[in-house]
Amino acid sequence: MKKEPDLINLPKHIALIMDGNGRWAKKRGLPRNMGHKAGASALEKLLKEAAKIGIENITVYAFSTENRSRPKDEIDYLMGLMSDYIDDNIAKVKSNNYRIRIIGNRDMLDKMLNDKINNLEELTKDKTGLAFNIALFYGGRDEIVRAVRKTVNEGLSEITEASFAKHLDTAMIPDPDLIIRTSGEKRLSNFLIWQSAYSEIYFSDKYWPDFNIEYLKEAILDYQNRERRFGKV
Ligand code: FPP
Repeated sequence: MKKEPDLINLPKHIALIMDGNGRWAKKRGLPRNMGHKAGASALEKLLKEAAKIGIENITVYAFSTENRSRPKDEIDYLMGLMSDYIDDNIAKVKSNNYRIRIIGNRDMLDKMLNDKINNLEELTKDKTGLAFNIALFYGGRDEIVRAVRKTVNEGLSEITEASFAKHLDTAMIPDPDLIIRTSGEKRLSNFLIWQSAYSEIYFSDKYWPDFNIEYLKEAILDYQNRERRFGKV
């Protein structure tokens, strides 16, 4: 087996389920929120490295519809991290080449965060570097139900997979080739359930804050050694 991934044949879209922040913190005797903080800086570093090797699209599961039942203090902390991340990217918009989009249920976001997000999306929409998508208040089933509503409201008489998919939050984003979940858990947890129909799935035992470019390369190498048949022989 090759040791380094083939940089010509990279997955075009990698989706990440960033799991294990809480356990990472617990192992160190730290409060859970410190795990989220470390997770956010791990993400920042990984994005830079992934863009350098030529990954074109990355989507991260930052906050699920189910995460709403976490303690208020943890939700507030995560929303604070998100807000800081958005402010930081607005401030760096001239020097940064990321195109940033948020997917998920905008009705669940508070107005201030929503306004900031709209601003950041507008400011980065013509950027040509890494397309970075953040799933926030996101649930795959919720996304499908919202897409059904939009389809019905449009009164379309003939519905196809392609016409339906245009109503998903990911309409402008290719389906993920590779989905990675960290922390040893082996499920999709309502993440991109429509879009993952033919995705390769990779599970890493590392907790998210420890997941770095070397582990990402291992996942890509594993992906490149698989044969994708899309249901054909
Ligand atoms: C799951 O770990 C992680 C989350 C619910 C939050 C992920 C968010 C970040 C890494 C911050 C992202 C920030 C930006 C700016 C996009 P867990 O808390 O479920 O861990 P556990 O299973 O070990 O308890």
